[in-house]
Amino acid sequence: MPQVERFPMSIPFGWYGVSYSSELEIGDVRDLHYFGRDLVLFRNEEGEAGLLDAYCPHLGAHLGKGGKVEGDSIRCPFHAWQFRPDGYCSKIPYAKAYRVFNADQIEGLPAEFYILPDPPRDLGTKADPALEAFFAASGAQIDSTKEPRAYYNIKTDRIHMPPIATFHRAAGYYGTLAHELTHWTGATKRLDRLGRFNDRKAYAFEELVAEIGNCMLCAQIGVEPEFDQSAAYVEGWLEAMKEDDRAIFRAASEAQKAVDYIMDRTGHAEQMAAE
Ligand code: FES
Repeated sequence: MPQVERFPMSIPFGWYGVSYSSELEIGDVRDLHYFGRDLVLFRNEEGEAGLLDAYCPHLGAHLGKGGKVEGDSIRCPFHAWQFRPDGYCSKIPYAKAYRVFNADQIEGLPAEFYILPDPPRDLGTKADPALEAFFAASGAQIDSTKEPRAYYNIKTDRIHMPPIATFHRAAGYYGTLAHELTHWTGATKRLDRLGRFNDRKAYAFEELVAEIGNCMLCAQIGVEPEFDQSAAYVEGWLEAMKEDDRAIFRAASEAQKAVDYIMDRTGHAEQMAAE
């Protein structure tokens, strides 16, 4: 009979239970201390259980104290980074990639980051059918008359645009429309931003949100934004930023939500995820 020898290297021996599976419901988050370490145990909405180091790899918040299950991940209570049961960081909410950042300056990114986006198209001076369809798909009511002002009317919930022919370039028209569409997302029945921002200072802040939203949206739909109208708002923006040095970050975060909302409405979010 062959003699069985012990494997020469030490091997992990045995499993240690930290909880009964049946006691961990979907959405549960527990902070545990085993094996001399702080740990967080959770079950995601797909039914998968995960045991991770309790301290968030970002800035060290305790995931077991205030962390919440969201989809397939646990969300950190501090800055909302999300982690799957295998520890993979599945979402960093305020750090999405846009074409305005230059991957050439960063070494070692996955190959897809080095694919150059199409340059903004020269739209000439005429309406572009694809962009018309995009803005129509948002569901916003857009009127065009000879009145030379572009604005979003919160009372009627309609956007007014001057005719495209009054703009030097069609890109200027679509950039302005992107700005007004960002305002449109702020209605109470949408992202409820305009109700919260209702004094003069808040108006300047909302304009900052709309201008950042304009840039983000233009980057997504391949339109080169124009800033001819922006100078009129700069003083108000500076005032808002002097009083609150985080205003620019808050505005960028609100603009991000607005653009996500528009991309969802137009069905472009799914399309981009599939690309
Ligand atoms: S500490 Fe967790 S996301 Fe910042």
